[in-house]
Amino acid sequence: MLQDPHGRIINYVRLSVTDRCNLRCTYCMPEQMKFEQQGNLLTDDEIIRLLKMLAYDGVSKVRITGGEPFMRPNLLSLLEKIKNIDGITDIAITTNGVLTKSFIPALCDLGIQQVNLSLDTLQANRFERITRRNKFAAVMDCFHTMLQHDMQVKINTVVMDQVNTDEITAFAALTELKKVSVRFIEEMPFNGQQKEFSGINWHYQRILDTIREQYELVKIPDLPHATSLNYQIPGFSGTVGVIPAYSRTFCGTCNRLRISATGSIKTCLYGNNMLNVRDLLRQPLFRDMHIRSGIQAAITERFKDGFEAEKNFLEDVKESMSIIGG
Ligand code: GTP
Ligand code: 5AD
Ligand code: SF4
Repeated sequence: MLQDPHGRIINYVRLSVTDRCNLRCTYCMPEQMKFEQQGNLLTDDEIIRLLKMLAYDGVSKVRITGGEPFMRPNLLSLLEKIKNIDGITDIAITTNGVLTKSFIPALCDLGIQQVNLSLDTLQANRFERITRRNKFAAVMDCFHTMLQHDMQVKINTVVMDQVNTDEITAFAALTELKKVSVRFIEEMPFNGQQKEFSGINWHYQRILDTIREQYELVKIPDLPHATSLNYQIPGFSGTVGVIPAYSRTFCGTCNRLRISATGSIKTCLYGNNMLNVRDLLRQPLFRDMHIRSGIQAAITERFKDGFEAEKNFLEDVKESMSIIGG
């Protein structure tokens, strides 16, 4: 079992399978991004070996992230192998939806139904301004296809001052007829340093107040380790939620470990890279027990919350979220 010094059990891994992305969201990365060489990324075999060790130590949920996960060649075959790992009962994906549509039937066949879709606007022009790419139609098409396949879709909407706050109500309205969970995320500083970040203007309470100007919100009980606070508008099919990602209200129940595409391990989104597990996996003399104890040691140094982790952060730069994996 992986347990941190604050009594939290780690049973959820967020695994980034690539640092590449086919969008350039302004809150996430600069237009010019230097990507890793292929050889620096964890291979399928390394990922499977690592996840088997983690599953042995009690991890049951894996969220596949990126960059954009579908930019990794042969992602489906990797997913199939992950599916077959004993102890991994829950596989989820966070995607931008640009390439995802054609994979939907295969994902459903694999029983991978939980997909979080990043979508920050319902307007084509604005989409291009935010993502620097003209892919709105493809993403909306993907969204509708996912719903047709009865996938459990959560839309992730990063709330940005003077960019998309006028669409908060329109996103909430989407839940009237669509069985989707729309979650508004507080913007965080992980944008690869290309734009100024001076704290948030749109605190999650302000987002909720904005929705309440138009709709009644009825609280839904939170799942044990949820990042979001969720609500339903009476009579609507879907739900709306807020993720206090910058306010960090959910650290007390955090059960997550992050692994980047190059094998860096973070025990907190706001903290340091604690260990490069790829380097251990590539040591011929290292056995699973050495690697498992390396991970356990990193977890032993875990801070109590994202504020403590940030205070102790060694580097001054804020990486792009595409490297961390969200
Ligand atoms: P599930 O709970 O598995 O549905 O996923 P999630 O909401 O954690 O994952 P998703 O990839 O959809 O992330 C949504 C937003 O929550 C992103 O902006 C993440 O960066 C943020 N987030 C996820 N985990 C954490 C965390 O541990 N700390 C903070 N501060 N933000 C997080
Ligand atoms: N602040 C908040 N959320 C972010 N994401 C990416 N960058 C940021 C940021 N700076 C979100 C994406 C994606 C999720 C994994 O992280 O929108 O849905
Ligand atoms: Fe790509 Fe996601 Fe970053 Fe947008 S937020 S640039 S979709 S990794």
